[in-house]
Amino acid sequence: MKIGIIGSGNIGGNLGKHWAKAGHDVLFSSRHPEQLNDLVNASEGNAKAVSIEEAFEADADVYLLATPFKAIDKLSELYAGEYGNKVIIDATNPYPERDGEMAQEVRDSNRNASEYTAMKFNTAKTAKAFNTIRAEHLKNSAFRDSEKLAIPYAAQDEDSKQLTQQLIQDIGFDAVYVGDLTETKIMDPDQKIYAKSLERKELEKLIKA
Ligand SMILES: NC(=O)c1ccc[n+]([C@@H]2O[C@H](COP(=O)([O-])OP(=O)(O)OC[C@H]3O[C@@H](n4cnc5c(N)ncnc54)[C@H](OP(=O)(O)O)[C@@H]3O)[C@@H](O)[C@H]2O)c1
Repeated sequence: MKIGIIGSGNIGGNLGKHWAKAGHDVLFSSRHPEQLNDLVNASEGNAKAVSIEEAFEADADVYLLATPFKAIDKLSELYAGEYGNKVIIDATNPYPERDGEMAQEVRDSNRNASEYTAMKFNTAKTAKAFNTIRAEHLKNSAFRDSEKLAIPYAAQDEDSKQLTQQLIQDIGFDAVYVGDLTETKIMDPDQKIYAKSLERKELEKLIKA
């Protein structure tokens, strides 16, 4: 699969490295792609660094959103204005202290953070995943054969659901489906399953509790 990483820091950088190792074609992007060469060199397999526009132009099968939440407005304008209806996996979280007023407004609204992203990107092919795992666990706990950590995910349509499940499993995590985007409040900051690194059974128990 061709995967466009939009925002290549703790989350995007590590996920991209894992997916390249798993055999996918990875495009790392940020506002400063010239700073991503170390990441490319540290990746096993097929990876390169490009601008955000080049990542969208490359017609990837899926885009991972891993920037600060405040970048969503601008990125979605660029995407929805010019590019296609690809699967978007949203790993972002709204933090008012980092992202400002718009993040507070999303937190205070009756819309989950993932629904905000889907609305802005104007596509039903939106999934939410990898936003609840701490970066160090994402980095160090991939590719386990047993005692796999579970990654909760939600998706708005069948394409985004299948593809997200596959990409979670490809890097040695266990995929636990939460529901569609209306069900993702429990994945948002400070909510029930946020920042919890658990195996499937414990995660499922917590979701049902
Ligand atoms: N760290 C965690 O434990 C963790 C866990 C789960 C989810 N998250 C969420 O995942 C997202 C990324 O977190 P992170 O820790 O990976 O952040 P990070 O290490 O600071 O990386 C952010 C990346 O996004 C790029 N970026 C920043 N502003 C941008 C913009 N306006 N447009 C395009 N690219 C931009 C940055 O590069 P340039 O500045 O060069 O553009 C960088 O590559 C956040 O929403 C965070 O809340 C974080």
